[in-house]
Amino acid sequence: MYRPTYVKIENDILTNNIKEIINKYDDYKYYIGVVKANAYGHGDYIVNDLIKGGVNYLAVSSLEEALSIRKYNQEIPILCLEPINLEHLSVILENNITITIESLEYTKELLKLNPSQKLKIHLKLDTGMSRLGFTDQQNLDKTISLIKENKHLYLEGIYTHLATSGINDIYYDKQINKFKELTSNIDLSTIDIVHLNRSITLTHHQKLPFETGTRLGIIMYGFSQSINSPTGLKKIKRDFLHKIHHISPTIMENDLNLKTAFSLHTEVISIRNIKKGDFAGYGANYLAKEDMMVATLPIGYADGISASMKYVSINDKKYEIVGDICMDMTLVKVDKNVKLHDKVEIFGNDISIKSVARNMQSNAYHVLTGITTRVPRIYQDGKEIKY
Ligand SMILES: Cc1ncc(COP(=O)(O)O)c(C=O)c1O
Repeated sequence: MYRPTYVKIENDILTNNIKEIINKYDDYKYYIGVVKANAYGHGDYIVNDLIKGGVNYLAVSSLEEALSIRKYNQEIPILCLEPINLEHLSVILENNITITIESLEYTKELLKLNPSQKLKIHLKLDTGMSRLGFTDQQNLDKTISLIKENKHLYLEGIYTHLATSGINDIYYDKQINKFKELTSNIDLSTIDIVHLNRSITLTHHQKLPFETGTRLGIIMYGFSQSINSPTGLKKIKRDFLHKIHHISPTIMENDLNLKTAFSLHTEVISIRNIKKGDFAGYGANYLAKEDMMVATLPIGYADGISASMKYVSINDKKYEIVGDICMDMTLVKVDKNVKLHDKVEIFGNDISIKSVARNMQSNAYHVLTGITTRVPRIYQDGKEIKY
């Protein structure tokens, strides 16, 4: 690493997070770690830390992502959540990738190719997200009978994706009912893995009797999904909403002790004194209202930091970002305590990922997956990987 800008990942934290989650939600047989988008920006290197914690299946969104994970683990089953173009069937089979089937047409196309070895299949049902999956029960039933007729195809799982948390909305219940309707001709107890949850629905709802697996996403990376129960007027409003719409009960707070493992760092590469009336950065957008010191940091929007970031932390003190963030550099108003080569935390511990997400009017998913691959990931075991 030559440029002093990097993401630091604390692998043990991830392992401990998984143990903590599984310890609390211990009634599932399959814990499917969602590691798409470069393991939510952490880098695929961490998959073995998740497995050490108890994850026994992984999920990705493309064949490319699945193959990237195979570099680190050859055994763990990997489900691809999006349909893969069947031109690549031989690659799927060679790498033992579980495919998602989401339509009867796709099934027929697969059968025409007559796979020569065992292929694991999960069926995806569209219960309201309107993104992927079966919406029609007849097509679903027909697909299942076609799969069962073929000796190489193995129907291992059935799943759906839930659009909302169901905390203050009616859509969670609607989606669960739709799932039950669509699968009413199927004996779910004969299917190895029935998985509906993502992080927020896992923590906010009782396990459904037919669920045998759960997908873990953002929760693994340290976001507990605990939400304070409303009080006062908000509680009255919520209780009323639940009553009139018959919304099923939700669990609000949880006592999961999770930590984030991801922090973004750089260092000061230049410091200058500027005078009252001087400008800083592109477009002369920042005007110094007094004599001041400006530090230059080698990190910019090409590294994935957002224009709405406001502060960085240097020597445990917050300093304000001034001027527009450039492609590769950022300017910060500092004081005389800041020296050349001082270490800078962009976010992670002193500046939380949640606070960055709030300023961006977005969420932790965007913050984590937004840090680009030009920023090397450094693992606490000393390994440095550039993706
Ligand atoms: C199909 C599917 N399942 C699970 C997840 C994980 O979601 P979360 O990170 O909210 O747990 C995702 C994430 O986008 C997804 O697309």
